[in-house]
This record gives sequence, structure tokens and C-alpha cells, in this order.
Amino acid sequence: MSKLVITGGKKLEGEIFIHGAKNSALPILAATIMCRGETIIHNCPQLSDVEASIKILKYLGCKVSQDKDTVTVNSTNIINSDIPENLMHEMRSSIIFLGALLARCKKTKLSFPGGCELGPRPIDLHIAALKKMGVEITEEHGFLNCSVKNKLKGSKIALSFPSVGATENILLAAASAKGKTIITNAAREPEIVDLANFLISCGAKIKGAGSDNIYIEGVSRLTPCEHVVIPDRIAASTFMSAIAITRGDVLVKNVEPKHLSMMLPIFEEAGCKLNISEKNIKIKNTDRLNKISTIRTMPYPGFPTDLQAPTMAMMTLAKGTSIFVENIFENRYKHVCELNRLGAKISVEGKVAVVYGVDSLSGAITRCTDLRGGASLVVAALAAEGKTEILDISHIDRGYNQIEETLKNLGADISREKDISKN
Ligand code: EPZ
Repeated sequence: MSKLVITGGKKLEGEIFIHGAKNSALPILAATIMCRGETIIHNCPQLSDVEASIKILKYLGCKVSQDKDTVTVNSTNIINSDIPENLMHEMRSSIIFLGALLARCKKTKLSFPGGCELGPRPIDLHIAALKKMGVEITEEHGFLNCSVKNKLKGSKIALSFPSVGATENILLAAASAKGKTIITNAAREPEIVDLANFLISCGAKIKGAGSDNIYIEGVSRLTPCEHVVIPDRIAASTFMSAIAITRGDVLVKNVEPKHLSMMLPIFEEAGCKLNISEKNIKIKNTDRLNKISTIRTMPYPGFPTDLQAPTMAMMTLAKGTSIFVENIFENRYKHVCELNRLGAKISVEGKVAVVYGVDSLSGAITRCTDLRGGASLVVAALAAEGKTEILDISHIDRGYNQIEETLKNLGADISREKDISKN
């Protein structure tokens, strides 16, 4: 086990390059099993969640090679159609293989993804949609047994909630189903658009991705393609929060400003100066941040739930009080008590968190509770007085590639060390 050791107080200065989007790469890697042949994916981030997906692809029979941020998948020979329990539990979002496996193998068996640090992670919307497309699903002893008698069939599917994962599984199942599929109240995240663009490059017929109505006309076969994954908007905004709280001045490269349309006004309201170009954002802050208007997490294009924790960390030192309302996940405030250990003054009442800006934070020993909660501890620790240790950083490695190297290059006093407390 490793830990991060951070001595706060350094301004972050220089420039960084944002890696590809984890939440785009994962469904695209799953989709490669639908295209017999060799698919090449560029800007695929080197993250433990990507490694977990590659392990699943190899178990299924794919040949996978990785050269830094380029992953090549040859899925000509699929020899397994199930996902072993240990691989399912390594990454909750493995559920995204469901639609692709049904499209390629017409059957699959995988363990129920279960809950995670954010609370129960139901998949009722995935199951209801796939059943409408002709999938027989039985649940026993914690496993989902799924099979399709003939072919997946196109269907009209109205999602009661714009679930990202459910929209992705339906897209994957519908791409080579018989007939047309319409998804209403679909998720609109940029990662959905990226997955749809990947499938279209493979020959799929998809219209409307990015809107709440997506139209898919099934095709008989998908062929391999070459694709560049979009930049990770969540990673970009996380680093921008770190730059803002340390009163830094950094050029953030390889971003899509339009994917951050909800966040950029918040940085400006807090007092940051932004210089926005087509693929880069220069962010500079020289003073104590201002409090921001109430943040309500919503499906895209609303405020992203994944940015609740990193943005909250930025607000711990602001002048005044900021309010957050978490509307997407039941239990996404586990980082609050860890931020309070650093001297933050945050109180939680149900879905609402109230952040009273304090004059200073002080280093402490803290522990990651989940991916974005762990990132929020890094943001706060960079501005805390003295030394902070952050334990259980495997959570952070799921979504940020070598976070300590990125921050060290900006002047942060940060290192990854062995956590001997675990021995
Ligand atoms: C994706 O998770 C992301 N993960 C999450 O990012 C992100 O927080 C989430 O979308 C929301 O934007 C990946 O893309 C790998 P949902 P997903 O289905 O698909 C409920 C990160 O930090 N729901 O949109 O699981 C669910 O319980 C991760 O990178 C049902 O009730 O999210 C939750 O409350 C964390 N039934 C809400 O919908 C279902 O069948 C949003 O879930 C499915 C979901």
C-alpha cells in the first residue's frame, strides 16, 4: 500500500497536459469486443480502472497491447462470455461489459456489481432496458445470468433517470441489434457522445447522442477502427481547483472547454482569471477565493456529481459560506470528515453540505474514502499548513494517472511513499 505525503503552501505554476477521460475509455474498451479485428484507442489513460478493463478483455480472449496511452485490442477470438467475480469486484463499472457481451456472445454471466463507496449502485434501469431488447435475465446467488434466444431486438426505451451506464449499455446492445432503438431521457454526458462516435466509426448508425433522445438503427456487423478518447473533464477541473486554492498560475492543456461549461463560471465567481482557447485553459488566482453560489449536482449539462468533492475542497478556504446539494448519489459526502480533519468547517445534513470558509487548514493524517473524495483531500492538502499524509490512495489511482508527478511538475511538495502502517 502507498500513501501521498504533501507539504502544503506551494503555488502551482507551469503547465499540465490532461489525460484521456476514464469514463469514456472504459465503455469504449468494452465496445471493442463487438468489432472482430484490431481496434486502436489513443489517449487511453494509464489508470488502474483501465488496467482492470484490460484484464477482463484478456480473460474474454482478446489480445491486448499497450504503449503508454495507446491501447490495441484484437477481439477476433472470444473464448469466454462470463466475467469472473474477482474481476467484477475489482471495478464496479465492469457492468458496462454487459451490453457488449450480449451483442457479441448472446449470453453472459456476471456477478451483481453490488454497492460501492457512493452507496448502493442499482442496475434496475440496465436490466429493464435489456429485457425489452429480448434479453432473458435471471438473478441467483448474486449472479446475473443473461441470454438472448435469437438476436437482440431494437426497442423504444424511456429511462426514468438519465443513467450514464444504462444509456451506454443500451447503446452497445442496440448498435448491432435487429431493428431500431430509441432511447428517451438518455444521459447527455460528453462520454456518451464519445462512445457513440466510436461506434459510428465502427459502422454503427446512431443519431442524437448528447441529446436526451438517441436513435440507433442496428447493423449486422461492426468493424474495427482507430479512435482518440476525449480529454478527462473531471481530472481537468480537479487540477484547476488545486491551482485556484494554491493561488497558482497554470496553463491546462488538452481540455474541451465546452465540456466544462458548468464549471468555468464557478472558477470566475470564486475569483480566478481564465484565459480560454480552443484546447487550453490558463487559470490564475492571486487572492483568497470568494464563496460561490449554491452548487446542485445534476445530470449533464448540470454540475457534475464527480466534481462535488474537489470543488468543495477548493471552497474550504474561501471567504464566506458555500452550499452543496448532492442530488445524484446517496452517500457522496464521506470525504467531509476527512476534510474536517484538515481543519475545514463543513457540516452535512442529508443531501446538503454547508462549507464555512476558514482562514487556514493544517496538515493531518487522512484516508481516501473513494476516488473523487481522495482527490479532494489532495486539493485541500496542497493549501494546508504543514504536512499531510493521505492513505489508501489506490482509490485516487483509479482515476488520476500518477497524480503526484503531475503536481510535482507544477512545484508541489508531494511524494508517493510506502504506507508501513499497513504492515
Ligand atoms: C457514471 O456512473 C460514472 N462512472 C460516475 O463516475 C458518475 O459519477 C456517474 O456516471 C454520474 O455521472 C463511469 O462512467 C464509469 P449513473 P454510473 O448510472 O453509470 C442511479 C467517477 O468518479 N441508478 O448515471 O454508475 C444510481 O444509483 C464515477 O468517475 C439507478 O437507480 O452512474 C445513481 O444514484 C463515480 N438505477 C444515479 O442513478 C440504475 O439502473 C446515477 O447513476 C442505474 C443508476
